[in-house]
Amino acid sequence: MNKIVRWTSVLAVVTLGFAAAAQAQDGKDLAKSHACFTCHAMAGTKVGPGFAEIAAKFAGKPNAAQTLAEAMEHGEKGTFGAMPMPAQAGLTDSDAKLIADWILSQKK
Ligand code: HEC
Repeated sequence: MNKIVRWTSVLAVVTLGFAAAAQAQDGKDLAKSHACFTCHAMAGTKVGPGFAEIAAKFAGKPNAAQTLAEAMEHGEKGTFGAMPMPAQAGLTDSDAKLIADWILSQKK
């Protein structure tokens, strides 16, 4: 009995690990497919700030993922500089949330 319980928890931990890795990949793939990399690099300013800089600025802020998701969907200006980000058309709420979680996981 105990052995079964132990194996079940090992399996659960492994499965969760894979799920987390898969989600991280999804966020990056989504950012690629929505052409976010036209204006953003992983780190360092392109047209907009690097994803690492965005993560660093928003890390630990309350509702950070929600704030970033809304910035993508509605556009944003003034947080990083004079250049505004236009609203990203065709982004669903759930895609925006997945990308936001992925961005926030990029902090160094
Ligand atoms: C036309 C260029 C452009 C494209 C395309 C673009 N961005 Fe941006 N993005 C910017 C600029 C410029 C800023 C800085 C805006 C500011 O200072 O608030 C920014 C800011 C951000 C921010 C920080 C929000 C904030 O408060 O400033 C996030 C998150 C973000 N972009 C994600 C994305 C994602 C995800 C995509 C793809 C769906 C995307 N961007 C596509 C130019 C772009």
